Amino acid sequence: MELHADPRRILPVTDPDGRELVLSCGAALFTLRTAIHALGFHPATTLLPSRADPDLLAVVRPLAERTPDPKIARLARAIPRRRTNRRPFRPTTIPRSTLTTLRHATELEHAWMPSLDAEQCRHLRDLTARARRDQLADPAFVAELGRWTQLGAGTRDGVPSYATVGAPADESWILQEFGGPAEGTRPAPLVVVIGSLTDDRLDRLQAGQALQRVLLTATAAGLAASFISPPIMVPSARAELRRLLGCGVWPQVLLRLGYGSPLPWIPRRPLEDVLLETLVSA
Ligand SMILES: Cc1cc2nc3c(=O)[nH]c(=O)nc-3n(C[C@H](O)[C@H](O)[C@H](O)COP(=O)(O)O)c2cc1C
Repeated sequence: MELHADPRRILPVTDPDGRELVLSCGAALFTLRTAIHALGFHPATTLLPSRADPDLLAVVRPLAERTPDPKIARLARAIPRRRTNRRPFRPTTIPRSTLTTLRHATELEHAWMPSLDAEQCRHLRDLTARARRDQLADPAFVAELGRWTQLGAGTRDGVPSYATVGAPADESWILQEFGGPAEGTRPAPLVVVIGSLTDDRLDRLQAGQALQRVLLTATAAGLAASFISPPIMVPSARAELRRLLGCGVWPQVLLRLGYGSPLPWIPRRPLEDVLLETLVSA
């Protein structure tokens, strides 16, 4: 199976160099690998197999049958249950052992999850507020956001408006929540960064796979997640976040994790939109 990026789906204002496009494809690739594995095959994967065709991101060959690893089977069962939960989370502390499991999931996919102390969380909160203000001051960003998120109930693409019900548009609740445990009596949701050693296409693809491994691991552990995007999407904020992390790692994704309330079904694109052709060789 070949995985191709579709450059027509880049968001030109938010994602001018297609970084998020590659991350998203990496997430899809991890889903594919997990599904193949859970069916009892080894998903032999070659990343970026063609210099001539940089949009061919991976080739996956289901190889010799093998007994599925129960841990992977657990992740596979989480695939249809995983969805982005943008609502406030319950004030329940996430066990430290779960953070360790999430970090391990990241590292299995050759990406990194640097630790954030309370001081870094406070800095991150201010950085998020500033970056969000910058984004909202840009009419092109606001127009693009509207095109992808204010979609009617019948949509099979983008983020339907009901998926953001209960999540205030200004993200102020996120900013209040993630000051770190020292900020108040309410336990803060967990905020994690997924980073890579370089910012090239291969590392972005791997960070995308790490993202999906983290999201499925979190789902299997009963956790919900949503994206905190401003400090990653605004270039000056991303550079500041990189300095804040201080370990040379390129931040690729910032997630908030916690125990959330159930969400309605989220639409998926029709299969014929994403599966281009089927070639079966003997
Ligand atoms: C790389 C990447 C970046 C994303 N950034 C955001 C974001 O900034 N804000 C947001 O609300 N959702 C973000 N999402 C979540 C997508 O909107 C979401 O995955 C998509 O709408 C499908 O919904 P689901 O996650 O519930 O299946 C991002 C997803 C990916 C893979």
